[in-house]
Amino acid sequence: MVTSELPIAVFDSGVGGLTVLHECLVSLPHEDFVYLGDTARFPYGDRSADELRRFALELAGRLVDDGAKALVVACNSATAAAAPALREEFGTRLPVVTVVGPESRLAAGATTGGRVGLLATPATVASGAYERALAEHAPDAELFAVPCHALAPLIQAGGEVDERVVASVEDACAPLRENGVDTVILGCTHYPLVRPVIQRALGRGVEVITSGQAIADEVGEALAEAGIEREERRRGEYRFMCSGDAESFRAVGTRFLQLPLGEVRHVEVEAATAGSGR
Ligand code: DGL
Repeated sequence: MVTSELPIAVFDSGVGGLTVLHECLVSLPHEDFVYLGDTARFPYGDRSADELRRFALELAGRLVDDGAKALVVACNSATAAAAPALREEFGTRLPVVTVVGPESRLAAGATTGGRVGLLATPATVASGAYERALAEHAPDAELFAVPCHALAPLIQAGGEVDERVVASVEDACAPLRENGVDTVILGCTHYPLVRPVIQRALGRGVEVITSGQAIADEVGEALAEAGIEREERRRGEYRFMCSGDAESFRAVGTRFLQLPLGEVRHVEVEAATAGSGR
């Protein structure tokens, strides 16, 4: 049974989901949050749908067993592969809020010419999740999807925004410019951190869509619907876990969250069949 005293659990493959958590902490300062970054198995973007489903069910299971009143999947690659499985497994016990849907709805409302671009990981693009979600809200819109292999790992590495980031963004945006898109979805929770680079590559006239605020709104609505919100005058707490090196998560994470991060607890996860293991 979920109770209002429990935290809201958020997970991602790394620090990207902190861009979603940031919006949740600002919109719902009275709630408690726990965040799990699966940094040992980062990046998710080149993994198979089966493997991502296994990871997502494992992480969600751990968070729910520890005690959570809502689950936020702050990773597009995990959402694209595992949203139905997560809803089936946990949806009757607690609200499950995912990315993909909210930003597709925003893009459908924002597009003026029905030409929508998507920047996302190869796993997310291959899933076709955005085509399906956009078609639900804007059946006549056309989606131009660009898989970005290098961008999330470059951002996760935590270095300065340098010429490698700019080159990777310019490469990804070139086909979108050629196709004359008027709206672009950032379909990876890492990408908002380089939003100025993306906006510059696309030009001022292109509307760039992220999911953070819409997710925070959805979490607030889900809690209200279930009647499990905390009282607004309290100040909530938040804490962090990661499956890789806790100190590097803390160092990079602080920049993503733009709020103090505090201590990060290391947790063990099952071995991946392949991956960088950072
Ligand atoms: N933040 C994850 C996503 O939204 C991304 C990157 C990765 O692990 O490759 O897809």
